[in-house]
Amino acid sequence: MMIAQISDTHILARSSDRAEGRRRADDLRRCVADINLQKPDAVVHTGDIVQHGQPEEYEHIAELLAPLEAPIYVVPGNRDNRDALRASLGSQVHMPETAGFFHYTVETHCLRLVALDSTAPGERKGVYCEERQAWLHQTLALAPDQPTILLIHHPPFDIDDHYIGGYRRPQDAEGLAAVIRRHSQVERMLCGHVHCPTQRSWAGTTATTMASVAVDVRKGIDETRAKSRPIYQLHEVSDEAGIVSRARLLVD
Ligand SMILES: [Fe+2]
Repeated sequence: MMIAQISDTHILARSSDRAEGRRRADDLRRCVADINLQKPDAVVHTGDIVQHGQPEEYEHIAELLAPLEAPIYVVPGNRDNRDALRASLGSQVHMPETAGFFHYTVETHCLRLVALDSTAPGERKGVYCEERQAWLHQTLALAPDQPTILLIHHPPFDIDDHYIGGYRRPQDAEGLAAVIRRHSQVERMLCGHVHCPTQRSWAGTTATTMASVAVDVRKGIDETRAKSRPIYQLHEVSDEAGIVSRARLLVD
């Protein structure tokens, strides 16, 4: 199985006259075309899908994502608006069956996907309240033997030196860690939000963040050539090697 991951596309409305708006759209369009060439089984987007949570922005990204041949699964970021996301992308991307939190599971692949909503309206920081912890525990307990990838926008840990205390209550992050530690089938946690690539062990699993597709807000990539190129992530899953992840850097 192969999963392509994109994150932090921060798409603006098509009518925006900001130069970064056109650039972000062009780069996402190139990522989508290249993803189709790789033929992944699924595409995941780890949030900050658009810049201001506006319907016009979701309509724009709906057009940009339309050529994707694989199913796409998203989690909202702090820039997103759950209601506008549901209204504009509802027919195009997998949606939760219930209102409120944008949580869901995907059971149709050899790896189970669990999407956890870490956003709250008007809040920039990640939120992992007890209600979310309980949902995650109950959800993971339903399939203890199924290898699982967890999708969440906000990393629930600090990343030096620009993401310190990026979640609302440290004790809730500890609570989330305790839940994940109880479920050893969580093989990977894919995050967005910080706009830079990192990998670490956390709560008994491996957590990664990735470069933002939007290059003008990207961090942590200083190499001149890579700095301005569209980047997305590929995660290949096999019995022999587990999950092998690599960045896909697009060149002209
Ligand atoms: Fe972002």
